Parts: sequence; C-alpha cells; structure tokens
Amino acid sequence: MIRFTNVCMKFHGRAVLKDFTLEIPSGETAVILGGSGGGKTTMLRLILGLLRPDSGSIRVDGQELVGLPERDMVPIRARMAMVFQGSALFDSLTVRENVGYRLYEERALPEDAIERKIIESLCFVGLEDTLEKMPAELSGGMKKRVAIARALACSPEVILYDEPTAGLDPINTHLVNELIRRLQKEERLTQVVVTHDLETAYRVADRLIMIHRGDKLFDGTVDMLKRADDPRIRTFLRPHEVLATPGCFPDKDGGIRVVAPTLDEETPT
Ligand SMILES: Nc1ncnc2c1ncn2[C@@H]1O[C@H](COP(=O)(O)OP(=O)(O)OP(=O)(O)O)[C@@H](O)[C@H]1O
Ligand SMILES: [Mg+2]
Repeated sequence: MIRFTNVCMKFHGRAVLKDFTLEIPSGETAVILGGSGGGKTTMLRLILGLLRPDSGSIRVDGQELVGLPERDMVPIRARMAMVFQGSALFDSLTVRENVGYRLYEERALPEDAIERKIIESLCFVGLEDTLEKMPAELSGGMKKRVAIARALACSPEVILYDEPTAGLDPINTHLVNELIRRLQKEERLTQVVVTHDLETAYRVADRLIMIHRGDKLFDGTVDMLKRADDPRIRTFLRPHEVLATPGCFPDKDGGIRVVAPTLDEETPT
C-alpha cells in the first residue's frame, strides 16, 4: 500500500503538489493522469524517496518515508522498480547487461540464476532474441520493453511507469499496455502508471487519479471519469468537443477563453 497524506511539495516557492492525499492498495494498478507540469513525475520521485516533500506523510506498506535516513530507504527502494520516461537504458551496455544491471550490482544471486532471470524477463516482453544487442540497435518500442524487462528482473513488488507509451507507435503502445495488464492480472503487482495517453489509461487502470495543477481533481474508475462533469476533466478527455470553435482556449479554472481573431484581413493604409 502506498499512501500520501496531506503532501505539499514546492519548487522555488511554487506548489507542485498541494495538500495531496492518495491511497494505492497493494495489487492495484493506479493511473495518474494530468497535463504537462501537473506534478506526475514528482509524485513518482516522492514514492521512490528521491525527493522529500515540504510537509505531509508518505508511507509504503506502513513505513513512513518522510524523514527516513537514506540507508533505511535502500531496502524499501529495492522492492520497487521504475520504468523511466525515456527508457533510460545504458547506451554502452548490451541488453543482457542492462536487464541484469541491478542484479549484478546487488550480488544477491549466483551468476546462473541472474542469467535465468534476465532471459525470463526478456521472454516476458518478447525480446529474448536481443540479448547481445546494443540499445542503439533497438527501436523506441523495443527499448521501452527492455526497460520493462529490466524492471521485472529484480522481482519488484511495485512498478512505477513514467509515460510508458509516450512517443510509441500504435503497435508498440498496444504491446506495452498488454504487458502492464498481464502484470496487473497475472502477477497482481502494485503499479503506478503516469500518463497523459487516454488509451493507455483506459486500458490498464483499476483506478484513475487525475492531477490538475497540484490538486487531486478526480479519483475513481474509468466509467466514473468518463461521466465526470468537471469542465477541467471534460476538456482534458474531450478537447475536440469542449474547444471545438476556433479561438477557444482553456483557462486555468476549467473555463473557456475566447480570443478574438487578430489576423484581420484589412490591408494597412
Ligand atoms: N527538481 C526540480 N526543480 C525545480 N522545479 C521542478 C523540479 N522538478 C519538477 N519541477 C517543476 O514542477 C512542476 C511539475 O513537474 P513534473 O515533472 O512533476 O510534471 P509532470 O506532470 O510530470 O509533467 P510532464 O507531463 O511534462 O512530464 C513543473 O512545473 C516542473 O518545472
Ligand atoms: Mg513527467
């Protein structure tokens, strides 16, 4: 269970998360939706203990992270894995070395067990034939799947994904969504998926949380989200309906600002 209670996080005096409260039960796949700069990546970094909030409490399985010394953070972090936005593979290492990186570092398993883990993880993402390839030889979608294999190799209880399908073509988006779903349905992992891709959100979410300018705007199921009445949610989900007329722009409170045309056709005299 991951629990945020009244978390405030500021950067240079500007609040990025405001009095933020959230619970993600173990075994659930929660999707964090929201526009750019809304505080989504910040949330993931807080869960990993890479950032400390200004106030509030963050607990993982009951263990308070706020104020925890770094050495006590290490075993908690070891139970989690993160799939970074740009995949973040090491360019100079092979796929095998990338996937096994954390296991080699931890030295908790014998070499043949590490090898089995690497192959098992790559089989799960359908890339067992890329063991000796370098990241530069892989497409964006393959890199993302290797990043998922790397996360899986250390048998995490929690996987955090930052924009797992951003920039992927429809086939790779589908493949990544299905991997997340298998980990949800077959392994019952706790997963936090940050995205602004609605297709991914609707496909993988047990529950959706929408963040808007640091506030929790919505917390519920896909069906509840689709029926939500808040203009900020409707604009995010269906901009083509809400902002249909040329010259319409969303304002920060969910209203609509109409900007008069400035490109007048009069010729200057
Ligand atoms: N280390 C930092 N120092 C200063 N400002 C930061 C830092 N990290 C994030 N911010 C600011 O906090 C806000 C939220 O950032 P965050 O990366 O969490 O947004 P996001 O929802 O992940 O956005 P995106 O969809 O663009 O990835 C942004 O305005 C960002 O500039
Ligand atoms: Mg981000």
